[in-house]
Amino acid sequence: MNRETFNDLSYGMYVITTKENTKNIGCFINTVNQITSSNPIVAVSLNKENYTNKILKESKKCAISILSEKTNPEVISTFGYFSSKDTDKFKNINYKEIDNLPVVLENVCGYMIGEVINIIDAETHDIFLIRINKAEKIGTETPMTYRYYHEKLKGTSPKKAPTYIEEQKENSTSNRYQCIICGYIYDDSKEEVKFEDLDENWKCPRCGVGKDKFIKI
Ligand SMILES: Cc1cc2nc3c(=O)[nH]c(=O)nc-3n(C[C@H](O)[C@H](O)[C@H](O)COP(=O)(O)O)c2cc1C
Repeated sequence: MNRETFNDLSYGMYVITTKENTKNIGCFINTVNQITSSNPIVAVSLNKENYTNKILKESKKCAISILSEKTNPEVISTFGYFSSKDTDKFKNINYKEIDNLPVVLENVCGYMIGEVINIIDAETHDIFLIRINKAEKIGTETPMTYRYYHEKLKGTSPKKAPTYIEEQKENSTSNRYQCIICGYIYDDSKEEVKFEDLDENWKCPRCGVGKDKFIKI
């Protein structure tokens, strides 16, 4: 099987949020698909190990924010690389309580609110069928696609994302450095300036931390 074939599937970029009593919970996802049109239902794929999966099974209510190309990449690293179990992901994020759900509003195109009506087992993941009962458009920015994230922001997917593909074995002559905060990879062979020669004030283009948060891989 050629795993690269899957790279031609198209995805958007979203944050799904819910509540555990009064605590705000949520994670980054790229798997939201509209399933029906009248009385609309969307499907969301959530890894069984994600805390958001556990809490959504209990709360049955969620909001989905649609990220735009202007959304701060820190939203992706905060919601996509940390767990709500031990982090308050909403601390530095622009969000608003709507219908008792924390809705991420950081330069988003819009949001939807809905209720879980069915859960389908998909081995490592669960597919949540969500009936949407509210949807609002905010602004006119272009929605961010997974391709844009991958090619323009040089982003990758962690193991728990359905789109995760193991990195190719590195060429032993090329030096690669990875951000320990968000997973961004700086590959000397693809850049004009070697990592070691980058200015000390250089920042991770994805999450904004300094060079000291990078390790050689
Ligand atoms: C680009 C990207 C796409 C992702 N897509 C999904 C997804 O569709 N489903 C999923 O369960 N996790 C996905 N993840 C991983 C979760 O966001 C990640 O495991 C998160 O830390 C879970 O947080 P939680 O424990 O608070 O739920 C994605 C992460 C990134 C960075």
